[in-house]
Amino acid sequence: MTDREQDAKERLLEQDRTDSRGPLTTDTGVRVEDTDNSLSVGERGPTLLEDFHAREKITHFDHERIPERVVHARGAGAYGHFTPYEDLSDLTAAHFLSGPDVTTPVFVRFSTVAGSRGSADTVRDVRGFAVKFYTEQGNYDLVGNNMPVFFIQDGIKFPDFVHAVKPEPHNEIPQAQSAHDTLWDFVGLQPETTHMIMWLMSDRAIPRSYRTMQGFGVHTFRFVNTQGRGTFVKFHWKPLLGTHSLVWDEAQRIQGKDPDFNRRDLWESIERGQYPEWELGVQLVPEENEHDFDFDLLDATKIIPEEQVPVRPVGRLVLDRNPDNFFAETEQVAFHTANVVPGIDFTNDPLLQARNFSYLDTQLLRLGGSNFQQIPVNRPVSEVSNNQRDGFAQHRVHRGQTSYFPNSLGGGCPALADEGVYRHYTEKVEGAKIRKRAESFKDHYSQARLFLNSLADWEREHLVAAFRFELGKCEELAVRQRAVANLAHVDHGLAVEVAEGLGVEPPEDPGGARHTDTSPALSQANTAFG
Ligand code: HEM
Repeated sequence: MTDREQDAKERLLEQDRTDSRGPLTTDTGVRVEDTDNSLSVGERGPTLLEDFHAREKITHFDHERIPERVVHARGAGAYGHFTPYEDLSDLTAAHFLSGPDVTTPVFVRFSTVAGSRGSADTVRDVRGFAVKFYTEQGNYDLVGNNMPVFFIQDGIKFPDFVHAVKPEPHNEIPQAQSAHDTLWDFVGLQPETTHMIMWLMSDRAIPRSYRTMQGFGVHTFRFVNTQGRGTFVKFHWKPLLGTHSLVWDEAQRIQGKDPDFNRRDLWESIERGQYPEWELGVQLVPEENEHDFDFDLLDATKIIPEEQVPVRPVGRLVLDRNPDNFFAETEQVAFHTANVVPGIDFTNDPLLQARNFSYLDTQLLRLGGSNFQQIPVNRPVSEVSNNQRDGFAQHRVHRGQTSYFPNSLGGGCPALADEGVYRHYTEKVEGAKIRKRAESFKDHYSQARLFLNSLADWEREHLVAAFRFELGKCEELAVRQRAVANLAHVDHGLAVEVAEGLGVEPPEDPGGARHTDTSPALSQANTAFG
């Protein structure tokens, strides 16, 4: 680690930490005489409004809750560091990937998606895997999940999707994502969810531990090198302990016996010095090969099978320090797909484009205004120098007369850097303004079938059992029936098996083009099982 990196890590460690060691004071630093008895008229009389200490103490308490995240509300986080194995500067200008001499501090938050902050850890759900790299070029967030695909192709559907998977609005049941009518209603009506639903019904949705969970950036992103050359990239995290899941019966028992099972495991393993590790891997596709696939690289419901593009290991992530304060750090951390550094850029994936809007927007509400990047866990270790002023909870005292660009009077930020700046990838785009998805996004079943074919017999048994269990909780018969009929497009045998366990009519074999595997050669391929 260089001196600068050490310095960055230490700055991160020390940012605004306090031990509250002195005698008790008010928020304005006045020493308190008594914090157990309110100021009152006589020993048995009414409490006085004049008791500023009691009012301040209770008022602070009254305001101690902030909105929980609209999704991924329940999570656990830890600090650590990332070190690349080799210099990737032929591919990307990102400094944190420029060689094994560069170690970058990180904060990682794992989460479930649908339940509220107090829900159980071991529910059947997707898990978030969000990594904040505090790089010398600014913060880079890789905001991923433990499954390599997503439910929908276009972010405009996200509010509908989330309304369908969250606890139902009339009775706020259930906290888990998978067992209710609204989810299956949405799934049956939106076949693009099919591939991800296979993952959700698999054991991947009940990880044994955060330490044994894979992570995926999901979208195709873009590496850009200093010459401006772009390369498509998919990100993978592979746990060094291997990928392990619970079985459903265990998961359900643990929900009752220890709802904090995954959170506790992460905390305790770090306290014991058994630091969890992951390897970062990349799948790289040169720009000129963009259209070499029978799916669209911009479609987040698809993997790139490893048989077609192998995963290249490029670095190692270690988590070695628990947060000091859950609320200050894990709860207030703000990840955002648009937090990128030079060398990492977006693609036109319509899901990613929506995310690039959504995270900042929601954080402005969740974290109370526009200065949340000044919260210690969000603060970059690189210098921040901008003309942003004012807003709720401004913590910096900016000196000087000006806060605009350009200016010649001093005080604001009058200059732009010559190098190290973020330059957006130059991409030529043209077309009519329309609301229509490309034909290349229309195959919703081939990769779902690929996933099914990659399963061992026992994994397939668990999948069928999960479909039966979860769909069995769905009360509306027509909704069950439609979801099973949709499965028949993946594999008629699977749909019949599920239908039998549910007591619904087995669907007809749809046959036809949609039932034909578009990539038979890839029957065993699956990025996640590599
Ligand atoms: C939160 C992943 C799609 C909106 C999160 C978090 C993760 C995540 C890991 C938790 C971050 C944390 O720990 O604080 C993903 C992945 C997606 C996806 C992998 C698809 C590939 C979307 C889409 C939208 C969206 C399409 C909106 C259009 C949000 C919002 C939050 C969130 C609003 C809460 C953020 C906060 O309050 O800080 N997502 N998400 N996500 N996501 Fe996504």
